[in-house]
Amino acid sequence: MRWSEQRSGIAGWCVANLKNRPKYIVKPLGKQDRAAFSCGKAELDKYFLERASRDVREKITAVFVLLRQEDEDTVLGYYTLSSLYVDTGEIPEKLRKRTGRYRQVGATLIGRLAIATAIQKTGMGEFLLMDALARSLQATKTVMSFAVLVDAMDKQAEAFYRKYGFIVLRDNRLFLPMKTVERLPLPR
Ligand SMILES: CC(C)(COP(=O)(O)OP(=O)(O)OC[C@H]1O[C@@H](n2cnc3c(N)ncnc32)[C@H](O)[C@@H]1OP(=O)(O)O)[C@@H](O)C(=O)NCCC(=O)NCCS
Repeated sequence: MRWSEQRSGIAGWCVANLKNRPKYIVKPLGKQDRAAFSCGKAELDKYFLERASRDVREKITAVFVLLRQEDEDTVLGYYTLSSLYVDTGEIPEKLRKRTGRYRQVGATLIGRLAIATAIQKTGMGEFLLMDALARSLQATKTVMSFAVLVDAMDKQAEAFYRKYGFIVLRDNRLFLPMKTVERLPLPR
């Protein structure tokens, strides 16, 4: 069952999720073979191969990888999380009211998200996105964040994110208020 198909609340999601996806786990990037990963977009593959570990080491971004429980060496997907700020002037008027006099507010950026070509279109992009949103929400317990932002590579990626309620801020940057994330039936 996909996140988008279920409407029965968190308990229902957890039960369905455990039943249908017992094999997949998401962990911080470790010693996996990064060269073996390919999502069909050269820029995302190159980033993962050449920069991801360095960005983690330099505390620039966190990188999480999708793995099968029985094979933690093969990366099936990844995403990155980091912090940034948003100019409140960029936020749609209705939401801007919530930010009072602040000119900028903190946000969480899913800079990149990719699924291996071999398992695309099987629901894993959605699974990974929900994991990223759950982790972003979890982090607000210690460092608050007004919204989750994503940078979509192209119009197709934009369409993927819009499906989950993200709205376009400008160019390729999309936005989902954390209050909306909070209401989603996330996996944990
Ligand atoms: C975009 C991407 C992450 C989607 O992952 P996926 O595993 O193929 O997608 P899923 O199977 O989880 O699909 C989830 C839903 O999104 C929709 N979807 C998937 N890719 C889409 C696209 N490019 N445009 C519009 N909708 C899309 C699916 O139809 C599905 O909706 P449905 O349940 O109503 O059918 C994946 O194709 C990918 O990694 N592409 C290359 C890298 C990339 O473009 N990343 C984008 C972020 S920079």
